[in-house]
Amino acid sequence: MAVLVRGGTVVTAEHTWRADVFCADGKIKAIGTDLESPAGAEIVDAGGQYVMPGGIDPHTHMQLPFMGTVASDDFESGTAAGLAGGTTMIIDFVIPNPQQRVMDAYNQWRDWAKKSVADYSFHVAITWWDETVAADMETLVKEEGVNSFKHFMAYKGAIMADDEILVNSFSKAIELGAIVTCHAENGELVFRLQQKIYDMGITGPEGHPLSRPPEVEGEAANRAIRIAEVLGVPIYLVHNSCRQSLEAITRARNEGQRVYGEVLAGHLLVDDSVYRNKDFEVAAAHVMSPPFRPKEHQAALWHGLQSGNLQTTATDHCCFCADQKAAGKNDFRLIPNGTAGIENRMEVLWHHGVSTGRLTMNEFVAVTSTNAAKIFNVFPRKGNIAVGSDADMVVWDPEAAKTISAKTHFQKIDYNIFEGMTVKGRASHTLSQGKVVYANGKLNVEKGAGRYVDRPPYATYYDAIKKRSEHKKPTAVKR
Ligand code: URP
Ligand code: ZN
Ligand code: ZN
Repeated sequence: MAVLVRGGTVVTAEHTWRADVFCADGKIKAIGTDLESPAGAEIVDAGGQYVMPGGIDPHTHMQLPFMGTVASDDFESGTAAGLAGGTTMIIDFVIPNPQQRVMDAYNQWRDWAKKSVADYSFHVAITWWDETVAADMETLVKEEGVNSFKHFMAYKGAIMADDEILVNSFSKAIELGAIVTCHAENGELVFRLQQKIYDMGITGPEGHPLSRPPEVEGEAANRAIRIAEVLGVPIYLVHNSCRQSLEAITRARNEGQRVYGEVLAGHLLVDDSVYRNKDFEVAAAHVMSPPFRPKEHQAALWHGLQSGNLQTTATDHCCFCADQKAAGKNDFRLIPNGTAGIENRMEVLWHHGVSTGRLTMNEFVAVTSTNAAKIFNVFPRKGNIAVGSDADMVVWDPEAAKTISAKTHFQKIDYNIFEGMTVKGRASHTLSQGKVVYANGKLNVEKGAGRYVDRPPYATYYDAIKKRSEHKKPTAVKR
């Protein structure tokens, strides 16, 4: 299978230039002007369009078993929806139940993901601790291509990691050369606030954001960052939704700590007024954690992306339909937490980021693809347009407009948090492994074509950390 993407303008995180891109055997083979088209090659006319690395969504939950139900978009439908929006790789999460052997959960998720239509990888959550967990972390890094471990600081009584688990897991991650990631919300405070708000008679979805104020996120973000600082491990905070967690990240980065931050397309564009909608179905459809915030936080998050203190954009794609959300009709604490967005992330970020001048096109590529590839150590195989990189690309039509709607999206969910939003600029073609899998509104995908992507540990981070700790060694005080 060979494809020539002809006549477009290539945009990477680094630069922008006019070039054709020739792909064969799943890889980019040549980039240049007026490339010859070998016999039999499929031609994609990219005239007037941009050719960019396919998006990487570093935070998804396909078919996640969660809060008594299972997320409705599975690995096949969810990765297909991603391709329709220009996203060619996901990093999903293995989430063991407490006391479940980590390798058993990992093998279970690997099995579920076999039907993916686009490439995928896994962060693995550490939800409990004993010596088998430490041993399994080692196996995952050394034999399975896992280099990131996730910690949920919320969801008390379920998958929450307390400080003891964080310290054990972070210490093991350093030994293995892995990065740690955290969902930062103080789970104890959330638990208490939920109880208090429910007892006050607030039982509907409007209780959800009241029980998870920004301070709860800021406290956990700061705690996780400081624990990582003491132990000397690089840390990545997922779904930063508010000024408070961004400030914790910014402060630590200014002090030279290796801290990374992710922001969701939803948190940049949707505000907390959605929880006051009188229609339970609409309000519940927006229940996710951390919740959508008052508008002033969105301005701060955009500034975080622009300044480079937040490096990646994701979706936390975790679909629950109205019949699933109904479990919390009389008690907001029981509404399954999660919203969708993998199909729309790139177009809403282009429209509200590039078209408004908040981001350059190159910054757009960085925050939708390249930075995730670098942080999670799959660059330059992914997140790049260069000879030898995987031929995962999106051809982007800056003039094409659409109005987002659940009625027309591919995602397997009956609601879209961007419903009714008109965006200009969208994918016209998506290539995955050098094959055109989406063209002008139509998917052409193959179940199981997605491959598991190994992510090796971080020799370079850890070399730097070792050198720094040598440098900082305390010297004895002479009397
Ligand atoms: O509400 C959310 N975000 N659901 C998915 C699990 C998580 O916390 O990321
Ligand atoms: Zn989370
Ligand atoms: Zn998540």
